[in-house]
Amino acid sequence: MLRVAMDDTDALYPLLIRFFAHERQEIADFNKAVKQFGQDLPQVLTALRDLIAEKRAASRDFGAAEAAFLKHAQDAINPAVSEEDVQEMLIQHILTEDIFAKVFDNPDFHRQNNVASELYKLEEKLLGYGEKQKLLRALQPYYAGISQAAAVIQSHSEKQGFLKGLYENFYKVYNAKAADRLGVVYTPGEIVRFMIRSADWLCEKHFGKNLVDRGVEILDPATGTGTFIVELLEHFRGDHAKLRHKYKEELHANEVAILPYYVANLNIEATYQAITGQFAEFENLCFVDTLDNVDALGIHSGHQFDLLGGMADENMERVKRQNRRKISVIIGNPPYNVGQKSENDNNKNRAYSHIDSRIRHTYVSQSMAQKTAAYDMYVRFYRWATDRLSDEGMVAFITNRSFLDAQNLDGFRKTIARDFSAAWVIDLGGGCKEQSDFVGD
Ligand SMILES: C[S@@+](CC[C@H](N)C(=O)[O-])C[C@H]1O[C@@H](n2cnc3c(N)ncnc32)[C@H](O)[C@@H]1O
Repeated sequence: MLRVAMDDTDALYPLLIRFFAHERQEIADFNKAVKQFGQDLPQVLTALRDLIAEKRAASRDFGAAEAAFLKHAQDAINPAVSEEDVQEMLIQHILTEDIFAKVFDNPDFHRQNNVASELYKLEEKLLGYGEKQKLLRALQPYYAGISQAAAVIQSHSEKQGFLKGLYENFYKVYNAKAADRLGVVYTPGEIVRFMIRSADWLCEKHFGKNLVDRGVEILDPATGTGTFIVELLEHFRGDHAKLRHKYKEELHANEVAILPYYVANLNIEATYQAITGQFAEFENLCFVDTLDNVDALGIHSGHQFDLLGGMADENMERVKRQNRRKISVIIGNPPYNVGQKSENDNNKNRAYSHIDSRIRHTYVSQSMAQKTAAYDMYVRFYRWATDRLSDEGMVAFITNRSFLDAQNLDGFRKTIARDFSAAWVIDLGGGCKEQSDFVGD
């Protein structure tokens, strides 16, 4: 034990440093295992990919199940999903299945969630009895580290923190390029809470309603670990009746990558359970490429919805249900593709013909700039969200600072001023290195 006088600042400082740097043994072991994971994973991934290729050639059953899942993914997520993407989803599913069961103490999750259960069936066709353990043997220290850490993290918020770390760390090791392309970084809780309170205040100011009120439907279009929905539930905690209605009917979230989709699902359901004492499936989470889901865009009063086509499975039903709703608030932190510094990085996002054409006819046509590199993911999400709102509503996004003054975004700013009756900008002073008055490193 260390004891120092509170006014002895020289002695107090090292004590505080030690206190805050303290890590429980299990957490330290876990962090060590995470490092080890990076070294061992490539070999396991090769083994899994080889096995899938073998099975594809040898087992008609597996081939058929894979083709069915691919068809679903192309319908629901986007038509560009390939056999290779399905293979990666299956691998992520296999690698993380046990982790979720342990951390959330929810062994049935994969059998109950509508997307997970399909991947689970595919996994059963791929791996015979004992094969999974054999394949994953090299990752045992990692799983053991997780089990120990999971056993001591009891509180709901610790679990959330753990999953956020897992989301970023796992993805960076697993596929750094995809992590960058998809913008796999979580949003700090402080920012999320600030945005929710601000959106609530603005909603009241401009529309005379609060977020919790009936009829205010809220969508996070790129939900990651589900932080915005989780914090919204916390925000509504005071009124259980309204919270229940929101959860069931008026909160929506989309995610395109399987790992965050699972994490979001578990986080959101666990938060709801922690607040209300009751478990209820979160039925408004869609596994979908938001930018490709253009059925509900440009809808104003009197629009007829296209209710035909597509598969009648649950995820598709969820997407269609969301598309029928009048969304009033779109809030979140869309992906920002930081790694694409030059054309040669070969980590480009795919083209989105509908959204890109809308950008061309609005932000780009309004621009005076010579070069209009206005098709990045952030701009696309702005375009999508603006078009998704009906006659009234708001978009609340975190963006990088370039939206405020970048030359090539002049058309964007002009269009925003036209599309919305008010724009509130909070400049947090990010991108400080580019500002001329910035002194420091
Ligand atoms: C910046 S993160 C969101 C972080 C989230 N607020 C959190 O705290 O966990 C962006 C997320 O958007 C997802 N994403 C990227 N492109 C998408 C798309 N076209 N449709 C839906 N989700 C997408 C990524 O997989 C990633 O999880």
